[in-house]
Amino acid sequence: MKKKITLICLSIFLCTATFAQKKETPLYKDAKQPIEKRVDDLLSRMTLEEKVMQLNQFTLGRNDNANNMADPVNDIPAEIGSLIYFSSNPDLRNQVQKKAMEKSRLGIPVLFGYDVIHGYRTVYPISLAQACSWNPELVKQACAVAAQEARMSGVDWTFSPMIDVARDGRWGRVSEGYGEDPYTNAVFGVASVQGYQGDDLSDGKKVAACLKHYIGYGASEAGRDYVYTEISRQTLWDTYMPPYEAGVKAGAVTLMSSFNDINGTPGTANHYILTEILKERWQHDGFVVSDWGAIQQLRSQGVAKDKKEAAMKAFNAGVEMDMMNQCYDNHLAELVKEGKVSEELLNDAVKRVLRVKFRLGLFETPYTPASKEKERFLLPQSLKIAEQLAEESVVMLKNNNNALPLTGVSKVAVVGPMAKSNWHLLGSWRAQGKAEDAVTVFAGLENEFKNKIQLLYAQGCDFDGEDKSGFDEALTAAKSADAVIVCLGEKAQWSGENASRSTLSLPQIQEDLVTELKKAGKPVILLLSSGRPLELTRLEKLSNAMLQIWQPGIAGGNPIAGILSGRINPSGKLSITFPYATGQIPIYYNHRQSARTHQGKYQDIPSTPLYEFGYGLSYTTFEYSDIKLSAHKVKRGDKLIAEVTVKNTGNMDGAEVVHWFVRDPVSTISRPVKELKHFEKQMIKKGETKTFSFEVDLIQDFGFIDGEGKRFLESGEYYVLVKDKKVMVEVE
Ligand code: GLC
Repeated sequence: MKKKITLICLSIFLCTATFAQKKETPLYKDAKQPIEKRVDDLLSRMTLEEKVMQLNQFTLGRNDNANNMADPVNDIPAEIGSLIYFSSNPDLRNQVQKKAMEKSRLGIPVLFGYDVIHGYRTVYPISLAQACSWNPELVKQACAVAAQEARMSGVDWTFSPMIDVARDGRWGRVSEGYGEDPYTNAVFGVASVQGYQGDDLSDGKKVAACLKHYIGYGASEAGRDYVYTEISRQTLWDTYMPPYEAGVKAGAVTLMSSFNDINGTPGTANHYILTEILKERWQHDGFVVSDWGAIQQLRSQGVAKDKKEAAMKAFNAGVEMDMMNQCYDNHLAELVKEGKVSEELLNDAVKRVLRVKFRLGLFETPYTPASKEKERFLLPQSLKIAEQLAEESVVMLKNNNNALPLTGVSKVAVVGPMAKSNWHLLGSWRAQGKAEDAVTVFAGLENEFKNKIQLLYAQGCDFDGEDKSGFDEALTAAKSADAVIVCLGEKAQWSGENASRSTLSLPQIQEDLVTELKKAGKPVILLLSSGRPLELTRLEKLSNAMLQIWQPGIAGGNPIAGILSGRINPSGKLSITFPYATGQIPIYYNHRQSARTHQGKYQDIPSTPLYEFGYGLSYTTFEYSDIKLSAHKVKRGDKLIAEVTVKNTGNMDGAEVVHWFVRDPVSTISRPVKELKHFEKQMIKKGETKTFSFEVDLIQDFGFIDGEGKRFLESGEYYVLVKDKKVMVEVE
């Protein structure tokens, strides 16, 4: 009997507890519920102040100077929506997260963001270089590694990919995107989003992506930063929008609004792009974060008289989150109460932020699990991808009389400021990259040539300045060697944000060093490391061979040496035009046709670039067949396949990239002389022939976008082009 009573009491207790439990667990905390229901339930419980705080982002760990380190855990409100996290150790992040989960009324997790642009700790080549690999699958793998390293270090969200089409190398941020072409930026932007986000954002190894800087930042006047951009609606749609439309369709959950003033309406206050297009036309259901300070900068751009008006303009335009402006936290609630910002719009913004947090699984796993650095960073597979991407990003610009590969030499002089530099190989936005992780060019040469070639090192000169005291030593080394490798280039800080330069030339001291070394009468091989296209016209004349190695990240040294020794066949092709002179800017391949092709040229220099988009040499040679088409007359809805065969006619295996262009010679709106619409890269063994094909989507590939973003396809002649081959197709 006693046992029975005990059992009855126990079951009553359990029912009560379960009921109490059920009563206490709000729907938004129930992971079995659909995300939209959880979002609605949580929003319904929030006060105006709690809603506003979700729309703010501060920083954490920025100032690690012990003397004035604010106490982040106590000084950061538990209700903050997001933080930029600058530490690579998740402990501090977890402490702040614990405060948010346990000390705030509703326990909404903080979203931690960071700039992971080309790697987190395993730093890959800069994005401009990655595009020269024409290997989006490899870029996707690199982004997946970056996501894993970041998420395991306390970062849930990267402010990447940067997909700003850029045609002015004076602009330092040309380094961060994928070059001058809309299609290229779209393909690599999508590959990055897929690498970062994967198929399940709640996977502890993925991060939310952020398409930036929306939009037109790459059109910055004269290559200066943060300035006005004159962008017609037609150019907005045919040049700058395509990468963003592709990225949104690929599922990027966030975007970042840009600094630049777009025809009088800054990107961060631009309702047309942020709401009419992004939310209404493209139905984006994530959120937009402002760039750092971009809201309060509306004052200096002359469209807001104070921070309150700036907050109102940015929010009503469609910027959901305020990055480090102190505008939304100080003014949004007031604006709502005054009816200048609608409660409905505020609720929509909060739902967008909560939606991303739910998708990331932050309510279920708010804390980053503990892990050792060696479990997170520089894993063998990650380093392998880094080496492969560095290898495929290198572009051989010149190789006269087979100066390369270096064979039959016993002594090589290695000269120049980049030869032993590690830090500058990482480029801008190196995240948690460490100089000591980088394999320098010289170290790579030592690894490649040990016991085969004697290396003589002399720095020769610094990156800039006028000190030529090192020239003699460098010349002496060159005279006693069989060949000279001269490692030149830019410091990492000469490109990236707030890093505009008036010329694409390298500092005079570097050019003078090569002129001096030329006196040795030995073959001169230039290695060029930069975050932008360079003006190489004078250096080209002084060299026998030139490799554009970009800023290859931590693993460039060995593959670069492998190319110099001939172990690796270079396959990179330029993703951006290298002008003959800075004065040619803007100069890019997909320009409109001049009214007079025989006139209108410069009087003092050529009007063609030194190296065009898509250019790059190989150690082997490739022979292209004529383009074959599945039909020469088509109508809407028809399928059209273009094919070309490529034979490796040299004596070395090599990877070849086939770029497929289209041309519409007559159109209601003038079209570029050619437009990239597809590319494919294949390894072709010596003597082997491979077929490359392009399935033309008539609307997507032949069609064009008008100034309202509508795509149209007109009847008439179109051309498909590959290399110097072209074939005509008639669209009925
Ligand atoms: C910077 C950059 C932006 C970056 C952000 C956070 O100003 O413009 O690309 O993501 O601030 O660091």
